[in-house]
Amino acid sequence: MKTTTPPSCPFHAGAASSAPASHPPGTWPPGPPSGLTGWRFLRAMSRDLLGALSGWRDAYGGMVHLRIWPEHQIVVTDPERVRELLVDHHDALVRWERAVDVFAQVHGHSTLTSEGAAWRTKRHALQRAFTPKAVQAFAPAIAAAADAAYARWPQADGAWPIESAFTSLGMDVIMRMTFSCGATADTREAEWAVHQLSVEGAAEMYWPKSWPDWMPWKAKKRRALATLDRLIDGHVRARMASPQAEWPQDLLTRLLALHVEDPATWPLKAVRDECMSAFLAGHETTAATLTWWSWCMAANPSAQAAARAEVDAVLQGRRPTAADLPALAYLGRTLQETLRLHPAAPVLITRRSVRPITLGGWQLPARTMFGIPLHLMHHDARWFPEPDAFRPERFAPGAPAIPRGAFMPFGTGPRVCLGQHLALAEMTVLAAMFLQRYQVDVPAGMAPPKPVFNITLRPETPLTLRLAART
Ligand code: HEM
Repeated sequence: MKTTTPPSCPFHAGAASSAPASHPPGTWPPGPPSGLTGWRFLRAMSRDLLGALSGWRDAYGGMVHLRIWPEHQIVVTDPERVRELLVDHHDALVRWERAVDVFAQVHGHSTLTSEGAAWRTKRHALQRAFTPKAVQAFAPAIAAAADAAYARWPQADGAWPIESAFTSLGMDVIMRMTFSCGATADTREAEWAVHQLSVEGAAEMYWPKSWPDWMPWKAKKRRALATLDRLIDGHVRARMASPQAEWPQDLLTRLLALHVEDPATWPLKAVRDECMSAFLAGHETTAATLTWWSWCMAANPSAQAAARAEVDAVLQGRRPTAADLPALAYLGRTLQETLRLHPAAPVLITRRSVRPITLGGWQLPARTMFGIPLHLMHHDARWFPEPDAFRPERFAPGAPAIPRGAFMPFGTGPRVCLGQHLALAEMTVLAAMFLQRYQVDVPAGMAPPKPVFNITLRPETPLTLRLAART
């Protein structure tokens, strides 16, 4: 990757920016006229979020001010300003409370949803399970999950539900990492529950408050929450009931060891919340990316052929190991280009300042809201000519440099994705083993899938592709 790689330790990111203020206090960056309340911006965003944001970016630049009473929001798409915000000013920011509220209904109080000292303790405790070294040790389990799944996939299917199949596989991998067991019948039901909660969560975020879950029309949400609780709590309880000497080496054991050592900081509820977050954040995003990757492969047969030729040459028919991953450079670039075109968390990086900061010369008061729409940044024609075209060679050595901060599917700064190394290793192993076994094509007459935002970016209708086993 030629762009910004976040510091491996999230606690030692850059010090506070000393960028001088060049605009007087009380003035805001340019933005569309808001009228009395600016609430029409919310309507425009709920109808077509990416369309609305890109229109404002084109008209007003890389820092757009939206006055949406009672808030002041800045949409930041300039790569330098995004880094200044997320790296230099990280300690003056918290995540947007409404997004955290909606996530916390499912994730509880985990690394993803906490702030300040609580976040630091949790992130520090989990970090070791997600280092490149820890991830490498897990590569054989990822390959075993792929073997088991692909053995069940058909030899040929004109309309194989590849999105659902990759979602089950992603779930299987994270279950092995967290609980040392693969997907079971209740994880299949969990697939429905996760989809249900994602659709409802994405819709709820546009409302200032959620209706209580006991409302009669929320029966599906209640069922979905109960399904996930049963799944995660069941594993935690079963592990607690087994002798400690027999606990396998996995994420749950690591968390339970913290609980045994320091139950005040790590009550069982905290263990459960981290397992839930790992389960959800750990499979939704990789499944969405592999879904889009399979579409990109099907729609770009020459890139698929080149990636397969590399896989065949490097692996000579064997299972990939962690040591093989650096040699699968072209395959890696197809995944990077997929993450550029279809970042799994396209608009989820949001922040609120807890004290005044200076950004790009603007003096912004405490409580300013910030939105960083990755999708828009990744489609900026200044750094990515013909931004909608699938071109893995953009990331090749010798290609024109991409500015720091212009490509950051995992975010940047101390709150960069905890699972980024796992995600990249996992997706490379699963994609390599897929290409060893299958050719994938676009079914005749099929239109390109329309992306929709349901927490992650997914095709509007579940993706199906033509699959044929290699002879
Ligand atoms: C293609 C795969 C993935 C993508 C694109 C992705 C993307 C992201 C992004 C954009 C963020 C938010 C950063 C921010 O707010 O600044 C994030 C946070 C997070 N991700 Fe991922 N993610 C992926 C896979 C994973 C996996 C496999 C895990 C494993 C458990 C994971 C766990 C987390 C956690 C716990 C956080 C919160 C970190 C914190 O607040 O300290 N993610 N991810």
